[in-house]
Amino acid sequence: MRRAVGASLLHIAAVSGVFGAMPVAMAQDDGARIALGRRTAETACAQCHQIDAKGKPGNAGAPSFEAIANIRSMTELSVKVFLQSPHASMPMLHLSTAELDGLGAYIMSLRRR
Ligand code: HEC
Repeated sequence: MRRAVGASLLHIAAVSGVFGAMPVAMAQDDGARIALGRRTAETACAQCHQIDAKGKPGNAGAPSFEAIANIRSMTELSVKVFLQSPHASMPMLHLSTAELDGLGAYIMSLRRR
């Protein structure tokens, strides 16, 4: 009985395209968000953080974005929350929702898979 329910849910998902069209749309969207995040990082973050493997080393005390991305508990959401809360050692930056979103996506794209 259980098995039959599971199978029919899967069927609904397949028919409604959940496994089909969505990953493609998301991949394109992610590319644009990452590109915006990367540009924002160059102007707003690179004076303190090393923003990619080839970038200049950041200030003492400011972790590299790669190190941030590889903190186990880090997610896009926690990057965005961090950027919207005041911190003693980091200035409050005034970023648009799109920039925040892009920075979350860009930083997390540096996570080693
Ligand atoms: C004036 C220097 C400065 C600038 C500019 C700056 N940061 Fe930081 N940032 C720091 C320092 C120092 C820390 C470490 C101290 C801390 O965690 O509060 C930090 C910590 C962080 C962390 C948290 C890492 C953790 O361990 O939780 C994130 C995420 C982050 N920065 C992202 C950014 C992003 C994205 C930008 C650009 C929009 C940015 N920072 C701009 C100095 C800076």
